[in-house]
Amino acid sequence: MTSKNIIFEEKAEIVEQIRFEADQFITIVKAEKSSQTAKPGQFAFVECGGSTLLRRPLSYLRSSKEAGTIEFMYKTVGHGLESLSQMKKGDAIKVMGPIGNGFDHPLEKKSAILIGGGVGIPPVLFMGEELKKINKGINLVAFFGSEIPFPFQTSASGLVMPGVNEDIITTLDDMENVGIACRLSSQAGYEGCHSGFVTELANSYIDTLSDEEKNETIIYACGPESMLEAVAVLAKRKELDCMLSLEEHMACAIGGCAGCTVKIIENGDQKMKRVCVDGPVFKAEQIYT
Ligand SMILES: Cc1cc2nc3c(=O)[nH]c(=O)nc-3n(C[C@H](O)[C@H](O)[C@H](O)COP(=O)(O)OP(=O)(O)OC[C@H]3O[C@@H](n4cnc5c(N)ncnc54)[C@H](O)[C@@H]3O)c2cc1C
Ligand code: FES
Repeated sequence: MTSKNIIFEEKAEIVEQIRFEADQFITIVKAEKSSQTAKPGQFAFVECGGSTLLRRPLSYLRSSKEAGTIEFMYKTVGHGLESLSQMKKGDAIKVMGPIGNGFDHPLEKKSAILIGGGVGIPPVLFMGEELKKINKGINLVAFFGSEIPFPFQTSASGLVMPGVNEDIITTLDDMENVGIACRLSSQAGYEGCHSGFVTELANSYIDTLSDEEKNETIIYACGPESMLEAVAVLAKRKELDCMLSLEEHMACAIGGCAGCTVKIIENGDQKMKRVCVDGPVFKAEQIYT
């Protein structure tokens, strides 16, 4: 898949900056080329402006072929994303992408569980929306966790989530609007959210599935390393296929510097793979054995 992926370097333009609590942003960018092919789990290498020399990798939160736009969601950690967040509507910005393999959806999987934590929410939310566009009948559920306010509209869900206590009712409107049952977790005590880990919600849901249903289900996850490890352990224990999107620091994002390599297991052997071009999506059992 990587060899067929065409990466564009394009001069794009900021269309909108939406600010949320706790230094979180959604940035919408007019990027006519990459918006035509970007898929969930792929990322762009984004020039951030200001005095930041190195670009930053950001997963696509969405892309629209019709509008020619791509969207990113991020929290400013350091000076790069801080500069990006200060760019204004109409500012020029260079983006390179789409990069990486993205999430695959095997045809035999009739159901998927989407799990996202913090700034790992964008690629799995995108995956949910795209799968629904391709196949309205697909059975999707989503579990998202954050320790700071979710940078999305939330409300009480009208969709049933099997296995989860009825008091845990808060959802993201973006998921509700496309018919994906979703529940949220946080240890920050947000109303209607599970007070604990996102994997506890997923565990309760998986316990309602028959063996046959589990065979037809795949997990897609992105988030902090500790969450990814917990998801991998859960998937192994429940015997579910699982794909994880990894985040590593990147200097070039095109496979040239080997700065983003991780150890993976392939056919029983340990190998070094570059997260930028060989990933960022890997099977859970390749990363956590
Ligand atoms: C494929 C991919 C997709 C991503 N998607 C998103 C996303 O959608 N949203 C989002 O918010 N983030 C995302 N990230 C993470 C984001 O790119 C990084 O956190 C980025 O470094 C933040 O930039 P910054 O300028 O805010 O902070 P930085 O200035 O880069 O600093 C962030 C922290 O990392 C440390 N650091 C910086 N460079 C290195 C290095 N080379 N080695 C070790 N530590 C280092 C700094 O000391 C600091 O603590 C993604 C990363 C990858 C690889
Ligand atoms: S960032 Fe240079 S090889 Fe991946």
